[in-house]
Amino acid sequence: MDRIFSGIQPTGDLHLGNYLGALRNWVALQHKYECIYCMVDMHAITVWQDPKELAASTREVTAGLIAAGLDPDHNVLFNQSAVPAHAELAWVFNCVARLGWLNRMTQFKEKAGKNKENASVGLYAYPNLMAADILVYKATHVPVGEDQKQHLELTRDIAQKFNNDYNQNFFPLTEPLIFGEATRVMSLRDGNNKMSKSDPSENSRINMTDGLDDISRKIRKAKTDPEPLPGDRKALESRPEAANLIDIYAALSDQSTADVCSKFEGAQFSSFKEELTELAISVLGPVGEEMARLVKDPGYLDSVLRTGAERAKAIANPILDDVYDIVGFLRP
Ligand code: TYM
Repeated sequence: MDRIFSGIQPTGDLHLGNYLGALRNWVALQHKYECIYCMVDMHAITVWQDPKELAASTREVTAGLIAAGLDPDHNVLFNQSAVPAHAELAWVFNCVARLGWLNRMTQFKEKAGKNKENASVGLYAYPNLMAADILVYKATHVPVGEDQKQHLELTRDIAQKFNNDYNQNFFPLTEPLIFGEATRVMSLRDGNNKMSKSDPSENSRINMTDGLDDISRKIRKAKTDPEPLPGDRKALESRPEAANLIDIYAALSDQSTADVCSKFEGAQFSSFKEELTELAISVLGPVGEEMARLVKDPGYLDSVLRTGAERAKAIANPILDDVYDIVGFLRP
């Protein structure tokens, strides 16, 4: 049976990249598949997190998922550390994955930066835990933004090696689902860098909790170039900031980039930005408001996470039991 799993780190604010690259697609998939969505707090601590902020952020991201339109009764929503099977399977995968595979992971290189020796072991083994997140449910499809593609290839390698090593056809070879017009939303300040929570410039991203004034200021200040908008998306290849704004407009309005280009052909950025601001406010405003409302009710959010964790355990534990049998672990 087809089963969806995806995860999000509860660190910092949810931003437009998370929304367009992941959350909106999760919402679109919720009635087509059995869906399991996870706040990956164990991944979060691979870099330092203030404990109080991590707890608050886990509730806030849960609120964001619900505000974006995920039905907590229909989907399984929970935080990773509440289901120990993730960490247990990750250990088995630490013994399946090869050092050479992890050495090729570009996200580790980016996140560890120049001071690799000082990065946590957890940051290095991060992709093994991610593979465990997915495979402990035998998930068949994983909706993500483009930046996660390499991690999903590693997940397939781990599944394949486990199956080969133990001569079993046990884990599925999970497919990434990367779709929509904004699979890689770029920074508003630099069209060659991904929009990210860790960018020190607040103006580089639109947060889901931004008010109307912040959204309009950030779009007004977004870097562009002096040329008018072209009628063809291909002409934007050497204009990354312009391309990014067009992609964002297309994704937010559920149109193709080709349609957006023909609509705005010859327009100046000043008028395009006004329309983009209006659109962004109309789509994000209600989500941000609902998020703010839900965050005021931590008891409700905790009950969603508690129920989700119980449902997640009911799926994961029997799969982990089978893995332990396959590996030869006694449970006397
Ligand atoms: P995270 O928390 O960085 O991001 C959550 C989701 O948002 C997408 N995303 C973006 N999409 C488009 N443009 C952007 N600028 C952008 N920034 C973020 C990400 O692709 C992701 O889908 N390693 C994962 C979390 C994770 C996970 C998993 C995901 C842990 N276990 C298992 C899938 C399956 C991460 O750090 O996502």
